[in-house]
Amino acid sequence: MTEFSEAPDIEKQVSDLHEILEITQAMAGEKRLDRLLKVIMEGATRVLGADVSSIFLCDHDTGEFYSRFIQQAVVSEIRFPLDKGIAGYVAKTGETVNIEDAYKDDRFNPDIDKNTGYRTRSILCMPLVTLDKEIIGVTQVLNKKQGWFTAYDEKLLGVFSNNAAVSIDNTLLHEENIRLFKSLISTSSKTIDARDPVTAGHSQRVALYAEQLGRAAGLDSLALNELEVASWLHDIGKIGVRDDVLLKTGRLTDQEYKKIQEHATYTSEILEQIHFSRELKAVPFIASAHHERIDGKGYPYGLVGEKLPLAARILAIVDVYDALTAYDRPYKKAMSVEKALSILEEGRGTQFDAALVDLFISRRCFNIERRQYQRISVDLTFEIVFLSNDDQIKCVEKYGFPKVDDDVLESADANVEEDVDGGTAWDVNAPGKAKGIRVRDISASGLKFETGYYFPINNFVSLKVVIKSIDLTVLCRVIRIRRRPAGTGYIMGVEFVNMKIDEREKLLNYIKSLSAEELQTPIRFL
Ligand SMILES: [Fe+2]
Repeated sequence: MTEFSEAPDIEKQVSDLHEILEITQAMAGEKRLDRLLKVIMEGATRVLGADVSSIFLCDHDTGEFYSRFIQQAVVSEIRFPLDKGIAGYVAKTGETVNIEDAYKDDRFNPDIDKNTGYRTRSILCMPLVTLDKEIIGVTQVLNKKQGWFTAYDEKLLGVFSNNAAVSIDNTLLHEENIRLFKSLISTSSKTIDARDPVTAGHSQRVALYAEQLGRAAGLDSLALNELEVASWLHDIGKIGVRDDVLLKTGRLTDQEYKKIQEHATYTSEILEQIHFSRELKAVPFIASAHHERIDGKGYPYGLVGEKLPLAARILAIVDVYDALTAYDRPYKKAMSVEKALSILEEGRGTQFDAALVDLFISRRCFNIERRQYQRISVDLTFEIVFLSNDDQIKCVEKYGFPKVDDDVLESADANVEEDVDGGTAWDVNAPGKAKGIRVRDISASGLKFETGYYFPINNFVSLKVVIKSIDLTVLCRVIRIRRRPAGTGYIMGVEFVNMKIDEREKLLNYIKSLSAEELQTPIRFL
């Protein structure tokens, strides 16, 4: 068959190009990689009349392909070696591969089919080449609905892939810039904190608390970004306060207290001079408003209630919480968590936004330590009990977690460590339904393990954990789930929901007491 005879009529060609143009426009508007890939994959599937499409991007650092996709409301990532399958061949040679029957081609890697139960027939796979002629990945379109992929389809996908490569390249660059920007910001803020030994680490912790409360309040990823940057920078104005006042250990005079208060204005003045991108435009204002009060008696603006941006109201709470609990300040002694929370409660509706104080307490947003996990190598018995649908609903009603949106999931996903090798985990005596589950890391607030089962985020499961003298049964909420490489199960993170205080203490003490041999790695962040 000639290329010409395969091509559809002019009308169809015009409408195809029209559609590609529309999808290209949609691509240009996406700054988030997972969403962009979704736009491209869905577009390619539709335009080519295929069953499904994938984008695999090259990660040259790990020698793997990766793809992010949203499945059952969870952002998952799939990874496999760069030299595998048709995708590997295309990425290596830069050639287009168009085959009618995948299973007749030696280059085809049937692993993913085996794991997913999908049956691949025809494949059209094409490199994604940037304007700099770099191959950053491949587009793979599977199972043409009628017949197989034609030379016309190749041309169509070629146009499509060129546009896709440029958009993906831009998005990756954008993500890199954000990472670079954040690392610059956090380094400068650590330098500011270090000037005053009693405030060392303050901005970092404030950013962590703010992130927790921001998520609980339902901020999307853009707003969380803005909040994070504002948190890091909120005290930058302290560089305008003299050492003899800032570092004074005795009681401050009224005048000195005023001088300290001026740091909020300095924060605004300093940050106003920095060029923030459109997405971070509000950073100077949010950062400088961290001493505002909901009743208008704060400084420097004296704004009331809703006039204060949500991010500033969040920052006000977490800044005070950290100031109270983390260390001695010249004008305040450190205090217990309970006492600090009761002070926040006293300020409900006057100093602080009442609903946010409630969220901060009920969601335990002050518990940033829960991200610390230990990988242990001692005997541990572990049993997971699935809940009935009715019990699930009861748990959701009782513990009331809101629907998690894509933005939160993306951030959650991004936080999961990349180390997904199976070699260092160990089999656990997991009876019954829990076969094949391997525990990886434990903290006093949660557990991370490998499993062949898929649990959507915010689902509840009951866990029974036995380590030496500790024997606990606890209800857990799924907070992370990530696909292991090549689709061989998942790595799942759960947080303990109804653990009793004494049980938590016991577990915490036990983890602290473990010897170096019993710990496979030092504390890590999930
Ligand atoms: Fe401050």
